[in-house]
Amino acid sequence: MTLEQKRWNEKYSRRGPTLFPPEDFLVRRQHLLRAGTVLDVACGDGRHALYLARKGFAVTGIDFSANGLRLELFAAHEGVHVNTCQRDLDAEGILTDLGAFDNIVVIHFKPQLHTFEEMCRILRPNGFRFMARTAASRTDSNVDHLHRLFHCVGRPLRLLRYNCSVR
Ligand SMILES: C[S@@+](CC[C@H](N)C(=O)[O-])C[C@H]1O[C@@H](n2cnc3c(N)ncnc32)[C@H](O)[C@@H]1O
Repeated sequence: MTLEQKRWNEKYSRRGPTLFPPEDFLVRRQHLLRAGTVLDVACGDGRHALYLARKGFAVTGIDFSANGLRLELFAAHEGVHVNTCQRDLDAEGILTDLGAFDNIVVIHFKPQLHTFEEMCRILRPNGFRFMARTAASRTDSNVDHLHRLFHCVGRPLRLLRYNCSVR
């Protein structure tokens, strides 16, 4: 187990019995998602995965934290289903056996370039990718990161909307 994985496991084990609410920026833009399947990358304890499952999407959540994946308990409690997958997203080829998705959601997680490329390969044609994170305490900005990601893939990607709020 890596130190980072241990840190996240400890963090989730200290969390209380209720989930944080989904981020408002996803709730307000969920209409942009295509009907069908969603891969929630670095889903944590599943506040977005569960929110989208409740809305009728077939959701798979992937994260390296076993404690984060307690989302299975929340899902069972609510009577909704979310597939979960415990994997290290920094490893090469980690998404290839998951099949294709209509939507990929990445919230508060900065993927490695090779993981981003894999996401491009498993996103269905006309699929939708929703990415959001905060730049606080990071050395590079979201724009720089997005710029690098968009230039590393050999497939055209369209940036539909970019929101940036600086406090
Ligand atoms: C800031 S949390 C975001 C969780 C969730 N997306 C949300 O917005 O509530 C970052 C998540 O990334 C996961 N994570 C960090 N590095 C990872 C890695 N290399 N592989 C898989 N998951 C990772 C952590 O376990 C944690 O759940």
